[in-house]
Amino acid sequence: KAIVLTGITTTGTPHLGNYVGAIRPAIAASKNADVLPFYFLADYHALIKCQEPERVRQSSLEIAATWLALGLDTSNAVFYRQSDVPEILELSWLLTCVASKGLMNRAHAYKAAVADNEQSGEHDPDKGITMGLFSYPILMAADILLFNANKVPVGKDQIQHIEMARDMAARFNHIYGEHFILPEALLEEHGATLSGLDGRKMSKSYNNTIPLFEPEKKLRKLINKIKTNSLEPGEPKDPEGCTLFSIYQAFATPHEVTHIRQRYAEGISWGEMKQVLFEHINNHITPARERYEALLQAPEHIEEQLQEGAQKARDISVPFMQKLRKAVGISRIS
Ligand code: TYM
Repeated sequence: KAIVLTGITTTGTPHLGNYVGAIRPAIAASKNADVLPFYFLADYHALIKCQEPERVRQSSLEIAATWLALGLDTSNAVFYRQSDVPEILELSWLLTCVASKGLMNRAHAYKAAVADNEQSGEHDPDKGITMGLFSYPILMAADILLFNANKVPVGKDQIQHIEMARDMAARFNHIYGEHFILPEALLEEHGATLSGLDGRKMSKSYNNTIPLFEPEKKLRKLINKIKTNSLEPGEPKDPEGCTLFSIYQAFATPHEVTHIRQRYAEGISWGEMKQVLFEHINNHITPARERYEALLQAPEHIEEQLQEGAQKARDISVPFMQKLRKAVGISRIS
């Protein structure tokens, strides 16, 4: 069976970008009988960006409820919390010892933090940058390689991390023998980078997100806030580069998209397009949103699923880690 694996960092409420880029393709893959899915809450990753314990806790609940509300079948999938699988941290160390520092210097998240410092005239380019942020791609590689994932459904912003995981896997294999499969990113055609309210990539750090299960009224309000140009009703509009259109496209069939392109050519008003988009998304998510609301009221049920998942994950990770320890020469001497 092909192993499909992905994680979401527990730093906030899941948004449409997370859904379209990672969760939706992951749920679709999990329905394939030839796939063994591993989906997890990346709570160790959360500590890199967020030092508010209550937020990390609440986000873990919301992200777990999201997966379940969207129909993840936990009798088939391995659904767990990263921090319940300590072998991930152990592998992270083995990988740290083969990962080159030069490779980490090139990681986008680290480079962006350095660029921010330089731009604000800071003379220490590393100011405020923790070792957690710097070695973030190693922890992520450990997540992926511990279960020898073949495919990793992610948004475009994570591709570099998958490439780095391949690099670390290849180096480890070269030194210690073939232990790891080289993973590949699984990218969506539309939605690998979903735009947010202001037209930039939808991201918690830009504060431009639309939460996936926002209540109806708030969802309408947020969609009304999406930035558009100043063309008047009746004037033909270009769908390319239009945030409303790109979000619509991530939720619609090709036939629906053709129809909306036609409406743009005819000069649909922005007000009407916002209404169309709202109804479309709202219809799409309403059944899952109801399940989500109910699940949030049953955290013990969610916890039970996570514990079962952790057990299944460890049934695999404990013996594999033992094999890896032996491969690097740190097993018992007799
Ligand atoms: P995170 O939590 O930032 O995002 C979770 C997933 O959502 C995708 N995503 C998007 N996709 C399309 N458009 C957007 N605007 C958008 N914003 C976010 C992300 O690409 C991601 O797939 N490091 C990862 C979590 C992680 C992980 C892993 C993923 C930890 N270990 C192992 C895969 C495998 C992260 O911070 O994603």
